[in-house]
Amino acid sequence: MTSKVDSKEVGLVAGLNLFHFFLGSRDLHYGLWQDDLEVCIQNLPEAQKRYSDFLLSHIPQGVKRVLDVGCGAGGVATELLARGYQVEGVSPSPLLSEAARQQAGEDFKIHKGRFEEVSFKADEKFDLVMFSESFQYITLDTVLEDAQQRLNPGGYILICDFFKTNAAGRSVIGGGHPIDKFMMALEKSGLEVLEDKDITRETAPNLDIVDQMGRELLLPTFKLVGYAFGSNHPWLNKLLRWKYQKKIRKINRKYLSGERNGKSFARFKVYRLLLLRKTENQES
Ligand SMILES: C[S@@+](CC[C@H](N)C(=O)[O-])C[C@H]1O[C@@H](n2cnc3c(N)ncnc32)[C@H](O)[C@@H]1O
Repeated sequence: MTSKVDSKEVGLVAGLNLFHFFLGSRDLHYGLWQDDLEVCIQNLPEAQKRYSDFLLSHIPQGVKRVLDVGCGAGGVATELLARGYQVEGVSPSPLLSEAARQQAGEDFKIHKGRFEEVSFKADEKFDLVMFSESFQYITLDTVLEDAQQRLNPGGYILICDFFKTNAAGRSVIGGGHPIDKFMMALEKSGLEVLEDKDITRETAPNLDIVDQMGRELLLPTFKLVGYAFGSNHPWLNKLLRWKYQKKIRKINRKYLSGERNGKSFARFKVYRLLLLRKTENQES
């Protein structure tokens, strides 16, 4: 029996193809929009490069072996390899694993499957386990414990991702573990927090770009297709609009209402970089 393809993964690969074709970008993470960088789609590859540089600048001295969990299309792994680290990836997506191998090279070892389910040899340990915008996809109850299991004594966990805030109201932007629940899981884990940086302001502009794409590209395209289809097949058009009315309303609200922007991201999400270390009494 063939397994179902996850629509989130399809979305990630479609985005990757689109941005690679138009901008040459092979990254799947947000960009870091520092003050000197104009927020426009053409600058997205530069903003994503700045994110990678920022992320990798937090790898402590002495780290050699890195496990890149949710390695996407291999952009961060390629950068790590270029800097001399030994890197292995974890990826549940066959499509993205293929893209990662193309980018990082055939020798790039990928553990196939979800981090929750991948099994490692008992002695397979790393100096650092990294989650670059992949933490939110992984079950919060077990992720910190599982990551620690993969660490050498004194090893680190590096998380760069966004979380849900407690702001009242309903966000049209999905994703992120609730920050309160994460903080509780972190406290329970006993991990030492070495760095905790809030980069919400520098990452929120990514949503302004998404908003601009919705207004200036998706909306006019949908309208054009709807107009042509409605004129040529009026009855079928009515039927499909009735059958998929819920889906159409959801797409309109999520992508075309103009609510999916940087301001709303900064209200409902908080983007954090956290560098964590196993404390002495956690060592086995
Ligand atoms: C937004 S992409 C980030 C990719 C990459 N780390 C980067 O920084 O460009 C999210 C990644 O998480 C992966 N992912 C989703 N669920 C996962 C899981 N349960 N275990 C491991 N990785 C997962 C996806 O396949 C994808 O590669």
